[in-house]
Amino acid sequence: MSWIESRTDEEWKIETQKQWGNDPCCAVYAEGEEPGTVPFYDRVRKFRYTDYAPWMHEAIGFDRYNGKKLLEIGCGMGIDLMEFAKGGAAVTGIDLTREPLEIAGKGFESHSLKGEFHRMDSEKLEFPDGSFDVVYSFGVLHHTPNTQKAIDEVHRVLKPGGEAIVMLYYKNSIHYWWAQMFIHGVLRLKLFRMSPDELLSSNVEVSHSGAKPLVKVYNKKQARELFKNFSSTSLEVYQLQRYEIPLISSLLSDAQVESLSRKFGWFLLIKAVK
Ligand SMILES: C[S@@+](CC[C@H](N)C(=O)[O-])C[C@H]1O[C@@H](n2cnc3c(N)ncnc32)[C@H](O)[C@@H]1O
Repeated sequence: MSWIESRTDEEWKIETQKQWGNDPCCAVYAEGEEPGTVPFYDRVRKFRYTDYAPWMHEAIGFDRYNGKKLLEIGCGMGIDLMEFAKGGAAVTGIDLTREPLEIAGKGFESHSLKGEFHRMDSEKLEFPDGSFDVVYSFGVLHHTPNTQKAIDEVHRVLKPGGEAIVMLYYKNSIHYWWAQMFIHGVLRLKLFRMSPDELLSSNVEVSHSGAKPLVKVYNKKQARELFKNFSSTSLEVYQLQRYEIPLISSLLSDAQVESLSRKFGWFLLIKAVK
């Protein structure tokens, strides 16, 4: 039995809630601040958009959806959803896990932003067909057991001509092969006692609870297959930090690191039109 088959879909979803109920995504970078407050989000935003992924604003274009109905699947604490709301989109956020959703609700209040939040499973969206102009999901659908079902739901709830923007972890990345498989797997000998799938579950997400959420990775061919029902799909790769390439970092210019990140980064950003 493989690692993924060692749990039922429902058991994986319980593990998801243990993981992000205890460690809402990015909350660790604002430790000491009251969750949901303006100072809390200021620190989270600084980490996310300045230190960690400064490419996000341009690549995603949070301000391009003024007046559009936008759904975020797996919105967590609603960090990106706030950016869309500030850009004028009418936003709805859903997440399987209660705790980050509660923080998102408080965050929207403290920033005087409007948004709707629901606890919901990406594999069973409780919205009628054709409800949204845009569906966004960042770092979520590789954690749900039936990713194809979730993408089919994205397609269903989009209006004809609507846009999906989805980030999945990229298999042909330096992070996957170097940091996970080589450093953790080979040098730290983990691959001698666990499969690559279990290694990802144990390592990839920040976890203070000991949760081992499902973590899957996709290459470009697999991603295109997931989005085969859409009329067009484009794929871009992002996210590589210098600390991930310690042996060669000092030899490379910023432009060269950027160029490497666009080929072998950890995030596969998929934009697809229904
Ligand atoms: C890594 S966090 C990302 C959160 C947010 N998108 C961000 O980038 O900050 C993954 C989120 O996906 C949610 N999630 C995982 N599986 C889900 C599912 N089947 N349905 C809805 N949300 C899910 C988790 O509860 C968690 O909040």
